[in-house]
Amino acid sequence: MNTQPSDKKKDLLKRYGYRFGQMRLRTMSHLGLDVFETERFGCYSKDMDGKLFLDALSVQGVFNLGRRHPVIVEAMKKGLESLDMGNNFFMSEERLQLADKLAETTPGDINCFFFSSTGSEAVDLAIKVARGYTSRPGIISATECYHGITGFALSTNSNPDYVEPFGPLVPEFSHVPFGDLSALKNEMTEKTAAVIFEPMISEAGLLIPPDDYFSGVRELCDAHESLLIIDEVVSGLGRTGKIWGIEHFEGVVPDIMVSGKGLSAGMYPMAATMFREEVADFFLTYPFCHYSSTSGSDLGCVAASAMIDIINQPEFLSEVNRKGARLADGYRELLKRFPDLLESYGQLGLHTALRLADSSGGFRMNHYLAEEGVFALLATNDTSAIRIQPPLIITDDEIDKILDALGRALKKMN
Ligand SMILES: Cc1ncc(COP(=O)(O)O)c(C=O)c1O
Repeated sequence: MNTQPSDKKKDLLKRYGYRFGQMRLRTMSHLGLDVFETERFGCYSKDMDGKLFLDALSVQGVFNLGRRHPVIVEAMKKGLESLDMGNNFFMSEERLQLADKLAETTPGDINCFFFSSTGSEAVDLAIKVARGYTSRPGIISATECYHGITGFALSTNSNPDYVEPFGPLVPEFSHVPFGDLSALKNEMTEKTAAVIFEPMISEAGLLIPPDDYFSGVRELCDAHESLLIIDEVVSGLGRTGKIWGIEHFEGVVPDIMVSGKGLSAGMYPMAATMFREEVADFFLTYPFCHYSSTSGSDLGCVAASAMIDIINQPEFLSEVNRKGARLADGYRELLKRFPDLLESYGQLGLHTALRLADSSGGFRMNHYLAEEGVFALLATNDTSAIRIQPPLIITDDEIDKILDALGRALKKMN
């Protein structure tokens, strides 16, 4: 097989490295992922030299509905006849329609919204409001977490690769091991504004906490009059077989939830911070404390409304669960075949990860899967794990292709 890039691609890669950074490009080349996407459809994208990649990551949920889902493309084409981003100072029917639809899906009285462009911004707003609403500074997050790249979101992070060059970060942020209630109890004080967690941590290779963890977290937050922020940027919108990941923890209503990535089906940058009514009252005192020129764009709202209609269709979530179970069956077979290489797997719907015995196994797996034409991603906060989060519209046949590729990759690692 000719793995040498064409002359055209070589030239583009050279220019790309110069414009966007050599080290980043070198790393991607090393992993076999120096891809210039041309065609993109369903669960696939094609490199300019013709290699077809099966997407087993969907950019952690951006492409939950695959690439250029025809219903979303049509909705946006129609939107383009009369809309643009919209003037963010004015009201917008498209924005209101999206808020109404989201409110139908969110737990409890999480009925109030602010739309942004990225998950990081949406997390920043959640933290700002928690601090403003409680008049306290303290934010507690998980040691293993990732919530984004902007100021407040970045400060929740403890991975030196992300934070080391930028210190000192925002003060009064601290970390506790995920899933450990007594550690959280010890960390909470009368200065704690909020606790922010994902329902299950993606960046650390899918850490799923005990069933009673979040009811305990909720109780601790109530006892300290602190807010509970749940980051659903990856786990939301059907990924785990429920619309929101936190629904796996019965009866737990967060004070603030954050969504992003797949919210507009990979067609327009869009994220949401979602508040309980009482918390949203903060904006009565500070109505203009936070806004962004491109936030809550009308075209993004059109795409997002069409996306919600799709994931709300009967059978959508049961199909996600059925396909997740098919993937997990395959993982169990692989664990039997490669007991020395594979340690365990995690799975909720199509939110899955495989943990290898070797602490850097995720890198090698990433490389070998790319050779097999499958794009997945190691977990950056636990490089022994590889995240497999395919589009939710994946077919049984495509799931089997991922499993076959995993089997072949593991054989090469043996
Ligand atoms: C759990 C979680 N929260 C927030 C973010 C930040 O979202 P964005 O990359 O859109 O800024 C990410 C990004 O991967 C994420 O995984």
